[in-house]
Amino acid sequence: MSTGTRFNNQTIIVTGAGSGIGKATVTRLLQEGCTVIATDISAQRLTDFKAEQGNAPLETVAGDICDESVIQRIMEAAGPHIDGLVNNAGITDGFLPNAEVDNATWDRVIAVNLTAVMKLTRAVLPLMIDAGKGSIVNISSEAATRLAAGAAYTASKYAVIGLTKNNAAFYTRKGIRTNAVLPGGVATNIEAPFKSEYAMEVLGKAFSMAPAPASSEQLAAAITWLLSDDSANISGTVLNSDGGWSTL
Ligand SMILES: NC(=O)c1ccc[n+]([C@@H]2O[C@H](COP(=O)([O-])OP(=O)(O)OC[C@H]3O[C@@H](n4cnc5c(N)ncnc54)[C@H](O)[C@@H]3O)[C@@H](O)[C@H]2O)c1
Repeated sequence: MSTGTRFNNQTIIVTGAGSGIGKATVTRLLQEGCTVIATDISAQRLTDFKAEQGNAPLETVAGDICDESVIQRIMEAAGPHIDGLVNNAGITDGFLPNAEVDNATWDRVIAVNLTAVMKLTRAVLPLMIDAGKGSIVNISSEAATRLAAGAAYTASKYAVIGLTKNNAAFYTRKGIRTNAVLPGGVATNIEAPFKSEYAMEVLGKAFSMAPAPASSEQLAAAITWLLSDDSANISGTVLNSDGGWSTL
């Protein structure tokens, strides 16, 4: 993995930072000179991550991203200057199709994967608008391009693209870029048990086309590129990082 200086003197917030894509993104940012506010619902994962990173400029905030007091603590930890935000925390939906999805699953998946993205973005925007600069990367999914999940997860990840494009339309003129990354299969700790026999039958065929899973580091490379000035002219983009799965 490369090291560099793209993020010297920058402060970036990453949600879902205790595992998988979020953790790899934070690791890459630290290697490139960034101060990172890493947040996750798992305090243990954050404690372990902090221990691994030694004296690196890594601040951790443990808590549920759906809780507005957690968003407030993230903002306090970040301070008045925020260069970037990665809305990465996400959960799956048991692959439940609409006829089988229960209210609790629907509400929780929408809360974590979509509403929290809106709320944390709403919190950082005033600071970025004042600074006239910022980069926001939202993690959507292959499920926003093809059948790859249940109703709630799919709806949440399509909506994240809508939020991304709307944010780009309103705020690129203020110096704030907003883009989405759509991972295909990635080898992480995300829990994705099938809770529907019907979905297993239908999705089995869809998944037979999928390329081999990517690594979290491959996703981190795309995410940090969108955070960096290397992508200065890019806003409102939906970037698939899926080994070409969406073309099949
Ligand atoms: N792994 C894949 O194949 C894949 C594919 C497409 C999209 N994605 C998306 O990538 C993102 C990262 O997923 P991952 O695969 O790295 O998963 P992961 O489970 O390895 O990591 C996600 C982290 O988010 C945290 N988290 C979950 N709910 C939270 C909440 N309410 N508040 C704060 N933190 C919370 C978890 O504790 C976990 O540490 C998610 O948005 C996911 O939907 C993953």
